[in-house]
Amino acid sequence: MEQNAKWIKAEQNLGSLSPEFRKEYVAKGTIKKATATVTAMGVYNLYVNGAKAGNAVMAPFWTSYPHRVQEQTYDVTDLMGEKTTFGILLGKGWAMGRVGYSRAKYVSGFFAENACVIGSIRVEYADGTVDVINTDNTWQVWSSQILDSELYDGETVDHTAEIKHLGTAVIDENKRPEIIPQQGELVTEHERIFPCEIIKTPKGETVLDFGQNLAGYVEIRIRGKRGDRIVLTHAEVLDRDGNFYTENLRSAANRNVYTLSGEGEETFKPTFCFQGFRYVRLDEFPADVEVRPENFTAIVIYSDMKRTGDFSCGNEKINQLYSNIIWGQRGNFIDVPTDCPQRDERLGWTGDAEVFCRTAAINYDVENFFRKWLTDMALEQTPEGGVWGIVPGVGRCGGRIATGWADAAVICPWEIYRAYGDKELLRQNYSMMKKWIGYMHAFGEDEFLFVGGFHYGDWLAMDAGYGVYEGATQTDLIASAFFAYSTELVIRAGRILGEDVSEFEELYQNVRNAFRAAFMKDGLPTMYPKADAFATNRPVKGLTQTSIVLVLRFGLYEESERQGLIDKLAELIAENDGRMTTGFLGTPHILHVLSQNGRGDLAYDLLLQEKAPSWLFSVNHGATTIWEHWDSQKEDGTFWSTDMNSFNHYAYGAVYDWIFGVALGIDIPDDGAGYQKITVSPLPDRRLGFAKGSIETRHGKVASHWFYLPDGQVRYEITVPAGVEATINVAGIPQQTVSGGTFVYIA
Ligand code: BGC
Repeated sequence: MEQNAKWIKAEQNLGSLSPEFRKEYVAKGTIKKATATVTAMGVYNLYVNGAKAGNAVMAPFWTSYPHRVQEQTYDVTDLMGEKTTFGILLGKGWAMGRVGYSRAKYVSGFFAENACVIGSIRVEYADGTVDVINTDNTWQVWSSQILDSELYDGETVDHTAEIKHLGTAVIDENKRPEIIPQQGELVTEHERIFPCEIIKTPKGETVLDFGQNLAGYVEIRIRGKRGDRIVLTHAEVLDRDGNFYTENLRSAANRNVYTLSGEGEETFKPTFCFQGFRYVRLDEFPADVEVRPENFTAIVIYSDMKRTGDFSCGNEKINQLYSNIIWGQRGNFIDVPTDCPQRDERLGWTGDAEVFCRTAAINYDVENFFRKWLTDMALEQTPEGGVWGIVPGVGRCGGRIATGWADAAVICPWEIYRAYGDKELLRQNYSMMKKWIGYMHAFGEDEFLFVGGFHYGDWLAMDAGYGVYEGATQTDLIASAFFAYSTELVIRAGRILGEDVSEFEELYQNVRNAFRAAFMKDGLPTMYPKADAFATNRPVKGLTQTSIVLVLRFGLYEESERQGLIDKLAELIAENDGRMTTGFLGTPHILHVLSQNGRGDLAYDLLLQEKAPSWLFSVNHGATTIWEHWDSQKEDGTFWSTDMNSFNHYAYGAVYDWIFGVALGIDIPDDGAGYQKITVSPLPDRRLGFAKGSIETRHGKVASHWFYLPDGQVRYEITVPAGVEATINVAGIPQQTVSGGTFVYIA
């Protein structure tokens, strides 16, 4: 941004109307190159002679606004003429609209009084001279046809509204955040999907079914009469009677309202919001216009990440699960990793990202995406090292500082380093990582345990009874286990960075010892005598599937205890009719723990289980994304809850890191970050028939493919990029170390 550019705004209160800031410019010669740099408090589109610059939507995206906002730069050379009108159209977005749990803060006035834009256009002429056009108090304010736009509630557009000159912009004197260059990925439009069916529901509603739960918006092309209205409400599911269901959206209206001008074919789509949906109800539609599928297109939006992973196998249900995982990532990687894209939440919940980030980095290149979000996390870390449940924070609500959520500060940088091998990213986050350990160390009465405090626990686990969110596993046990695990990761990160980690090595030993003294009895996890913060509203247990899983996964057992732990876990699974009871924190690890300890068969049993709780339960019930709750919609078609029931929550999609890392067997040793070195140890299972998957790494494509031959043997085909050292472990064949090529084994 040029130094003399000023933040500008409208002088008068425009209510919820989106204003456009305009400037006319006459070229002073032949333009060689013109570059525009813009940002806003709110969300904006830049128009040059009426054409939209660039392909981003919802710019400048979502950062920790009290600290920083990103600017975007556009090459506008081809859009300029002898005379040029620059226009910056402004909406509320995350900075000025309703986000989070408080309605009060964002009632009318907040947007009008606070939204502002800043920009500069640099014009280079053929004769070498340069002209700069900055936002200042010569820009003019115009009205627009966007009468209101809210992330949760939708957009109102009126094509009959006259576009009026409202006056001259004024300089905004408020203190504004630092402007930084675009750090994350742009959010852009991707897939375009037509409705597969137009449904008349039993209640008589007209509903379009797009066949896929997604995040984005519907574009409508229509000819109608002046003043005709179209009102669209969006939803993810139909209820058991086949009626349109919106209760799980809570207070989010998810409704777009359009008024036609009647002038030829008109196109409508929201400019400054998006919806999470599969179904769209036509609440109002011109009576004399036929509802035809080709007039409606769902446009999917998400961060412009490069797709890197691919997978298929011989079990169609697992293939659908994989598709649901990919769609879950698309719907929730809209600039910030969110919990869900549809209800009045859509927030950067740290725990959800913590469990999913390894899978995310297999499916897509998410290095920039996480680099940006982690920078915001560090900026919002408390002086004591606390990390909020929600990043970027919204208003005064950042959620709780909770175990498994705050550990995203350690686990996400570690996983992103592991996937891409950039030590610099690890270094940039190292101080945040250490500070979080410091927070746990200083917390409560016992410096080596993380007990007390409010935690989300093994969120949505099934072992505390229906309607209880936090699961049964004692949160003190979970928190102390994560204390140990995160400390161990800080040691590994510190060693890679050449830091002195002796302090953390000593701490780790103490935490591990304290954990074992407090939470292990006769080789099994047990209750810590002190009460858990949530003990009053739910049954709390020391010995659960999740507690065993965390002890095994985080190395908190003695070798002599290992068999007993795995046997007990198998017993608890059997007692639950061969199913999991785990929630957000136990589930991502349970299959790993089983296969690491000789029970790959049981891991596959759980993967292929079809009764809830299981991944395939939702697949059998028509899911096209990952559900928040194991039985979001129950066997009988009723819903488990109205207030915590998203159908597009990626957290349980973390199971793909097991399918990729264990079933296909592609893994990264500690000294192989970025897939510089890999291990490939496939774990075939007849029930899949075959499995085939790959990842496009920074060093080239890594692939693993196995299938059963008629004689019962398995044929393995493993592809390793040139320059990458791969250690291959195929059952029945001596270990091989190879590089650069495709290797076939039959065993
Ligand atoms: C979100 C979760 C989040 C949780 C905290 C919920 O409302 O949707 O995914 O992690 O709150 O436990």
